[in-house]
Amino acid sequence: TWTMAGFRDMEIARIRQQVGKGRVICGLSGGVDSSVAAVLIHQAIGDQLTCIFVDPGILRAGEADEVIRTFRDRFNIHLIHRDASDLFLNALEGVSDPEIKRKTIGRLFIEVFEEEAAKLGGAEFLAQGTLYPDVIESVSFTGGPSVTIKSHHNVGGLPERMKMQLVEPLRELFKDEVRELGREMDIPEAIVGRHPFPGPGLAIRIPGAITREKLALLRRVDSIFLEEIRAAGLYDAIWQAFAVLLPVRTVGVMGDGRTYDYACALRAVTSTDGMTADIYPFDMSFLNRVAGRIVNEVRGVNRVTYDITSKPPGTIEWE
Ligand code: XMP
Repeated sequence: TWTMAGFRDMEIARIRQQVGKGRVICGLSGGVDSSVAAVLIHQAIGDQLTCIFVDPGILRAGEADEVIRTFRDRFNIHLIHRDASDLFLNALEGVSDPEIKRKTIGRLFIEVFEEEAAKLGGAEFLAQGTLYPDVIESVSFTGGPSVTIKSHHNVGGLPERMKMQLVEPLRELFKDEVRELGREMDIPEAIVGRHPFPGPGLAIRIPGAITREKLALLRRVDSIFLEEIRAAGLYDAIWQAFAVLLPVRTVGVMGDGRTYDYACALRAVTSTDGMTADIYPFDMSFLNRVAGRIVNEVRGVNRVTYDITSKPPGTIEWE
């Protein structure tokens, strides 16, 4: 009978056979797929694996630290942490078009990754957390979609240019199986059960040009929302939940004074694959509590809205 432990052992043998004494590098994002791939490959070949974590400065509060703590300290994986926030934020200055944001971010991820890989003296193998649906999708894309709604960036072209062979131990698995495999290898639930997070990160959750000030506000709003979702035991019932900082200021009243601060939107959806989505039907009392905390705790934000658009016609992200 097929078991996840059996699959893991078989993959470990397969990775050892493919890689031999070669070196493997793996881009770690903190997401489920790259995390599970990295731990699995590390179990197979130990220090022949080096992970590269590029911090683009557009992650959520605490995420970069969590990646480092988990992989370096808990799993003892050789991890290069490159703080590229200044590079990314400078390049994104004044950029308000969502597709240009995505292209800029995608290009910089590749540039910085290549730079760090070159410092290591290169490697024969590149590990990726490609899943079965990604394999299928890239096949069905050969006809070409008639309309590109959003260009989800990936590292297409990178392995050829860097002359590396791919190691893709998850390419037969679906997302829920990857999670099961992660649990089998004792990867913390906070990583294995994590909601999807887009590569362009918080940059596409701040419509218009992003600034450091706006990023700081959004991180605080987003943390409060997610903290309350976890406290209410709702995290696992939701596909994705996040805040969006709107490029709109509104008038409010705080104590005896008038405020004129940013409005934000909260978004939470259920979905099975991200292709369609329904809004999560929070109790009004939950939304009320979250809104109260945000306005009281985050100076600079004085209005909270809840996005009640399903997909389609809306997309999950605002940009
Ligand atoms: P949309 O907004 O298109 O999102 O309904 C569907 C799913 O894709 C994620 N998403 C992205 N992921 N790069 C990514 O890696 C991107 O540019 C990107 N845009 C959207 C989104 O978070 C949701 O899970």
